[in-house]
This record gives sequence, C-alpha cells and structure tokens, in this order.
Amino acid sequence: MLSPETIQAVQQAALIEEVVGDFVTLKKRGQNLWACCPFHHERTPSFAVSPGKGFYKCFGCDAAGDAIAFVKAIEGISFVEAVKYLAQKYGIPIQETEDEHQDIAAQHEKDSLYILMKLAQTYYADTLWQHAEGQRIGYTYLQERGITDEFINQFGLGYSLDTWQGFHTYAQQQGYSDELLEKAGLIVHNQEKLYDRFRGRVIFPIHNLSGKVIAFAARRVKASDDQPKYINSPDTPIYHKGDVLYGIYQAKQKIKELDSCLLVEGYTDVIALHMAGIQNVVASSGTALTDAQIQLISRFTKHVTVLFDGDTAGIQAALRGIDKILEKGLHVKVILLPDGEDPDSYAKKVGGLAFQNYLQQQVQDFITFKTKLLMKGVGEDLTRKATVIKDILQSVALIPDVVSRALLLQQTSKLLHIDESVLLAELNQLIFKQEKESRRPHKLVHNPVKELQLTAKRGELMPLNWATTIEAYEQESIRLLLNYGSMPLEDGTPLSTYLLRELADVPFQHLVYKEILNIYEQHSLQGQPVNIHVFIQHPDEKIQKTAIDLTASPYEISEKWEERYQINVSKEEDNLHRTAYKNILRLKLRLIHQLIEENNKLLKDNPDVEEEDKLLQVYAALKQSETAIAQQLGMVIVG
Ligand code: CTP
Ligand code: MN
Repeated sequence: MLSPETIQAVQQAALIEEVVGDFVTLKKRGQNLWACCPFHHERTPSFAVSPGKGFYKCFGCDAAGDAIAFVKAIEGISFVEAVKYLAQKYGIPIQETEDEHQDIAAQHEKDSLYILMKLAQTYYADTLWQHAEGQRIGYTYLQERGITDEFINQFGLGYSLDTWQGFHTYAQQQGYSDELLEKAGLIVHNQEKLYDRFRGRVIFPIHNLSGKVIAFAARRVKASDDQPKYINSPDTPIYHKGDVLYGIYQAKQKIKELDSCLLVEGYTDVIALHMAGIQNVVASSGTALTDAQIQLISRFTKHVTVLFDGDTAGIQAALRGIDKILEKGLHVKVILLPDGEDPDSYAKKVGGLAFQNYLQQQVQDFITFKTKLLMKGVGEDLTRKATVIKDILQSVALIPDVVSRALLLQQTSKLLHIDESVLLAELNQLIFKQEKESRRPHKLVHNPVKELQLTAKRGELMPLNWATTIEAYEQESIRLLLNYGSMPLEDGTPLSTYLLRELADVPFQHLVYKEILNIYEQHSLQGQPVNIHVFIQHPDEKIQKTAIDLTASPYEISEKWEERYQINVSKEEDNLHRTAYKNILRLKLRLIHQLIEENNKLLKDNPDVEEEDKLLQVYAALKQSETAIAQQLGMVIVG
C-alpha cells in the first residue's frame, strides 16, 4: 500500500500539462491546452488540458481525470503503478504503509508483468556485457554491425544464452511463477516442457511510450541458421503488437520538436538512424501500419516521412498502407533509398552527415512519388494511363483536408500533363462515391445534461421534457457550487453558504451529487474555503469525473460556443444569486410535483376513507407550496 502522504505529494507535484505532454503534443489555445484525443480517433482537437484546474477532458469521448487518472488510462496500469510512475518522474520518495516483503503474485497482474519484463531486460543486458558467451557471440555480433556501446546501452540491447533454461532458472530463483513467465511470453510451454523462448539471440527490448519494457524481439546471430531471423514476444496483457511502434519512446521528444516522424521497417534501421544523428524515427516492425500505430504517431505530429528500401519488391503493396495514413489526415512524404540499400546499410555506408543530406535532398511528396512510380513504363498506353490516374486520384480523394487536396491536385495535373478541371471532375466523382459508401445514419448524441447547461447558459426557458428532471437541477446546483462556491453574493456571503443553506432540506436523489454535496459541506464546516481539487483528485472515479465534467463543460470551450452561437458566456458570474435562486426554486418545484404525483397515486389506490382524508390534506399543502414557489419563480423570471 502506498502511504497517503506519497499520493498527496504526487498529486501536488504532478503538473497535468507536463504529464500529458509526455504522451501527446499540446497546443495552447485560450486558458487550456489542446490536442487530438489519445483515447479515440479524431482529426480536430477536442481533448483539453486545464493547467489551472489540473485535469484533462475530452469533449469528444468521455475521457476525463487528473494526472494520475491520465497515466492509468494511457498506460493501462493500476492506480498504484500510476502513482509510482509520477513519483519517479517528480523525484518523490515512495513510502509504503506495510513495509513487509511484498507478495509479487498478489499485485495487479499487469504491474507484475512490467516488473518481470524489466527483470528480463536487465538479465539479457547483463548477459551481453558480463557473460563469456554474451561477449563472444552477442557483443561481437553487435560490434560487427557497427553498433557502439553507447547505443547498445541506449536501446538496452542484450543477449540470451544458447540454452533451454537460462532465464527460466534465473526468474524462478527470483520467485516468479511459471504461470507469469509464460503469460509474459518469456518461456514456452510445449508438451509438458517449459523452456526459454529466446535462445542464442541478440535481444531488442521494445518499450512503450513511458519507457517501460513490454516485449522483446530476438535476432539470430548466425547467418546459416535455419531459424527465423527474428523471434518476437507474443501478445500479452501489456503488449499488443499492432499498437506499438519500435523506438517511439526514444523518438517522441524529437518528433514533437521537429514536428515530423520518419518511418522505417526494421529495428536495426531505427538504431542506425539514431547513430547517424537522426532521432525522430520509429519502425513499423516489418508489417503494414495499423490504425492504432497511425494514431500513436498523430499524437505527436501530423507529418510522416516513409523511408523505402531501394529494392523493396513490395513497394506497390506498401503504397496501399500509405493510403491509410493519408486517410487519417496525416501528411505523407517519401524517401527512396538507392538500389539495394536499407536505412541501416546506407547510413553505415555513407556516414551520418551524408545520410542526412541525402534524406533532405531526396524527400518528395507522396502523391508525386506515387505518380512518378506508377507512370514509369506506362508510355502512351492510354488505358493503362487512365488506370494509373484513377489510382492516384483515389489516394488524393482520401485526404480529408480540402486545401491540401486542392494543392495536390494542382501538382498532379502538372506531373501528368492533364488539365486540372478534368482531374477535378474525376476526383469529385471518387469522393462522392467514397462518401456514399461510408455514409451511415447520423448518430445524434443526446446528452440532456450538457444540453441543459447550454440552454441555461443561453438564458432561455427550456421547453423540453428532460430539461425539467430533478437530476438536471441537482446537477446544476452542484455545478454552481463547484464553479462559484467561494464567490461572494451582494451581501458578502459566499455562494456556497447560501446554496448549502437552501439545499439543507432538499433530499438529493442522485448519489454522486449527494456525495459531492456532503463532501463540500464537511469541508466547509472545517471553515476553510473548499478547493475544487478535493473533487478533481478524489479517489472515487465517479466523483472525479463528475467534478471535471461540471467545471469544464461547456464553459471551458466557451470560445468555440461563443463563436458559433454568438452567445456571451461570461455573464454567468454577474447573475449568480439569481441563477442559484432560480435553480433551487425549480428543483423544489419539481420535487413537489413528484410528491403530488406520488400522493395522487396513493389516492387512487387507497379506498380507505380516513387515509383518503389525510392524503387530501397533504395534497392541499403540496398544492399550496407549489403555488408559492411558482409565484416566486415567476417573479424571478419576470423581474
Ligand atoms: N521481422 C520480424 N520477423 C522476421 C523478419 C522480420 O518480425 N522473421 C520484422 C522485424 O521487425 C524487422 C523488420 O521486420 O525489424 C524488417 O525486417 P528486415 O529488414 O528483414 O530486418 P532488419 O530489422 O532490417 O534486420 P537486419 O538489418 O538485421 O537484417
Ligand atoms: Mn536491415
């Protein structure tokens, strides 16, 4: 167990913009920082980070939370691991409340897997550096390939002994169960036998975004070997091959800085480029890019440059993969390497500077590249030419941005010597077809609560049924409390005092609002102004999310709304008293309606005369209150 002091220290030290910034490129707009949401695919940013309030919130999907919640969600780890991660980032010592030896098996499975993978990585690296076989075979191989000590260390490379029980025995001695070792993909279970998956190979650890080892790739060292060149970790609870890019951890800072990402195929290509002084590089690991990988890149940049081997037979097939990148709204450039070279071999051959120069000189826009490539050898064959043109326009049609599309069309027209208007007509037809194919019935998102806030903000009366539900009014009370609790009313008392007094005899029906109200009350009883972080960092996720939703939405996107609807949202603070009063009256009115309804039902079901009399009295009293409140409300609304 982590001590509460450690958790608190982390909460205080962690700056949400720094924590999120390690995983996503944030851009400042207004008071907030914005990005495309890392939790769902989108092209325009609706993911906001509020440095002031210490939370993130996506207006597109439902993601929201504080710094700890963010690390938890993006890494898929437990609360404890997330706190530890942040403690390490901010140099906060970790105190555990029970200091006895921790039972590894009892920990969260993913957490144990991370620990185990780290252990394995250290073991393989130690074997490379310290074991005679590691030196003789593994280290020698890396040296022959020109990988220096510095880069062996930077990428955490290692060596696995050529035996069946190397790591297995070691891990058992460290107290790891066979079950976990197998789950991690480190040992293989085959016909009652358990043995090391990686044997006699050079080990490339694969890191996730925050630098944790999540998998390994193991390369054979002997060319004559009839074994596959690489053996990779299988998918595990912490590793999904299609979601990962090799080198992303080492590259992400540079990708952000340069606003561009180089894409290569192999592990060794990534390392070779680093050695050539190029750090913004990741590898797809030999397969076509997945949607998840494209999304991972687009968290950091919208500019991808693909490096093609000079002799890639599958270059045509690779073109299709690139269409997918275009479709996601990324800008794609291409560099073709000389015949017979891959990035690794060519960088080693010509050296860092010449290699960098080559990249700069050879980089071309993808559509241009594709056009030239496909037109090669077509000659004057008109049918073939027409097919090629269609193929190219198909790529252009995928580009979501209208301006980029128009520019590319211009360029294509020049390259193909075909009138732009002809291409445009064809392009529009393609786009029309694509849209028709992908068109689905519009899914309208109904969020009554948000709608209510918007309407309330616009100062209108709400004719819709849902708007009058009790939940919405409870929520509105809490929203006012959280946003403006400490603001003084005309007579100087804080709004919170007023609200808490008025709500004292109102039984809240929805648990989360009730809880927030209770916590607020308890805190204000202690006499201090209540800090909103109490809720934003609350261990109960429901409370945390509700607090963020109510303090972020939709006022935090006010700029957008203001533009769109020409509404002035800053007025709310000037009218607090009235707004709060009105809301409480409405809530009470609705509660009375509910009571009247219940009473009416009892009246109908209950033929007992004496009982009926009582119920009628209640009815009269309720009606009286209803009239009184309605009158007050009328006055407020009119006045
Ligand atoms: N790959 C794989 N399994 C294989 C072969 C290839 O997973 N049996 C993946 C690896 O991610 C590899 C990439 O495809 O990095 C590219 O393959 P290749 O160019 O053959 O390997 P390199 O990494 O370039 O290795 P080397 O330079 O040592 O040949
Ligand atoms: Mn290679």
